[in-house]
Amino acid sequence: MNYRHAFHAGNFADVFKHLVLVALLEALKRKEKGFAYFETHAGAGRYDLRDPAVQKTAEYRDGIGRLWRAASADPLTTAYLAAVRGVNRGPALRVYPGSPRIARALVRPQDRLGLAEREPGECARLAREFARDRQVRVECGDGYARLDAWLPPPEARGLVLLDPPYESAGEWRTVGEAVVAAHRRWSTGVYALWYPLKAGAPVARLKQALEASGVRRILVAELEVWPNDTPFRLNGCGMAMINPPWRVDEELERALPPLSGQLRQGPRATARVEWLVPE
Ligand SMILES: C[S@@+](CC[C@H](N)C(=O)[O-])C[C@H]1O[C@@H](n2cnc3c(N)ncnc32)[C@H](O)[C@@H]1O
Repeated sequence: MNYRHAFHAGNFADVFKHLVLVALLEALKRKEKGFAYFETHAGAGRYDLRDPAVQKTAEYRDGIGRLWRAASADPLTTAYLAAVRGVNRGPALRVYPGSPRIARALVRPQDRLGLAEREPGECARLAREFARDRQVRVECGDGYARLDAWLPPPEARGLVLLDPPYESAGEWRTVGEAVVAAHRRWSTGVYALWYPLKAGAPVARLKQALEASGVRRILVAELEVWPNDTPFRLNGCGMAMINPPWRVDEELERALPPLSGQLRQGPRATARVEWLVPE
C-alpha cells in the first residue's frame, strides 16, 4: 500500500471534503451539548506544501491554491478558509490542514475527537500533531476495527468521517458495509463517507448497497471538475451523508455551485446535492 495523502493534500477533492466537513460540524454546534467526532482514516493531520515531493505534483495549486486569496460571501467557505489560514502564519500558503486539524479548529471545549490511522509513519505524525491535546485521542491501527470500539459513544451526538484511500477494489464494499454496520450500532449518529468519481468506479453499486440497506436519510453531494467519462483522472468526488443535521442540504446547495466554478479543471464543472434515501 503506497498511498500517501501528502501528494493530494489541498487538491480539489480535499477542498470539497473539508467544506462538507465544516458544514456538518457547524450544524452539530448549533446545540450546546457536546458531541464526539470520529475519523477512521485520519492521515497525518497536517501537510507541508513546500516538501519537494509535494511540489512535484503540486495538486494543491488547483485546489486550495485557487481559493486561498479569494474572499467568499458564503459562510461555509469562509469558515473553511479560516481553518486553513489558521495553520498558516502569514500571507503565503505553506501548510494544508488535514481533516483532523480542521475538525479540531471547529470543535468546542465540550466536544472530543477520536482519530484512527493505520500507516505507522502517518500515525506518528498525527500523534505528534495532537500531543498533549486532551480533547483528542489518536489510535494507530485499523479504522474499521476502531469504529466498532468507539460506537455508540456516551455523548449520544456526533459525526463519523470515513475517508479511505480506495487503493483496492474491495474497499468500496468494505466501507459501504462498515457504515451500515456502524449505523446499526449507533443509529442516531451522523456519518459522512467520501468516495472518488472516476471512469469505471463502482459508485452506482455503492449507492445501491446503501439504498438497499434500509438506512433512511441519506444525502449525497457530488462535485465534478472534469466531465465524468474523462479517462485516467480523478474527475470528481462525492460525500454520502447519513442523518445530516437540519439544513445542511440547503447550505451545501448554496456553497457548492460557486465552488465548482472556482475548481473547474476541464471544459465544465458541476455540483449536485440530492437525497439518495429520504426520511
Ligand atoms: C485519504 S487519506 C486521509 C485523509 C484525511 N482524512 C484528510 O482529509 O486529511 C486516507 C488515509 O487512510 C489510511 N488508511 C488506509 N487504510 C486504513 C485503515 N484500514 N484504517 C486506518 N487508516 C487507513 C492511509 O494511510 C491514509 O493516511
